Amino acid sequence: MNNESVYQAIGGEATFREVVHRFYQSVRTDDIIGPMYPQQDWEGAEDRLRMFLAQYWGGPSDYSEQRGHPRLRMRHAHFRIDSQAAQRWLELMDEAIDNTDIAPPQREALREHMQKVAYMLINTAG
Ligand code: HEM
Repeated sequence: MNNESVYQAIGGEATFREVVHRFYQSVRTDDIIGPMYPQQDWEGAEDRLRMFLAQYWGGPSDYSEQRGHPRLRMRHAHFRIDSQAAQRWLELMDEAIDNTDIAPPQREALREHMQKVAYMLINTAG
């Protein structure tokens, strides 16, 4: 399964919008990761993650055009991300994916990618 086929198969932009919106609804009130996010710019945060994911999975390259190279490790360096925070991020994302109509193979592909990235972003022991 290549990235482009995932983007098409799950329904493109609209589906990424839905997943990311659900995800941030839960992040807002989350005790561990909620406080890390810009409380005045939830919409901006939603846009950034949606554009990144859509681009990664073969959609338009809006993310690169607006934000440049992702450099995710650098962009997360000033947040204190331990394994508990990564685990929570993944849990909330799993819920968002489960509550969206995405077929199992694509769901699995999304999860695998998120998991790999989340573990790579851990920058604090604990
Ligand atoms: C491991 C747990 C994670 C934590 C605690 C975390 C936290 C954050 C926070 C606080 C921001 C700033 C919000 C904003 O202003 O945009 C952010 C941005 C972002 N995160 Fe994460 N994140 C995590 C994992 C991930 C994963 C797994 C991905 C990708 C699959 C990801 C992709 C992004 C992207 C694309 C941005 C916007 C970067 C930019 O252009 O500025 N994050 N994250």
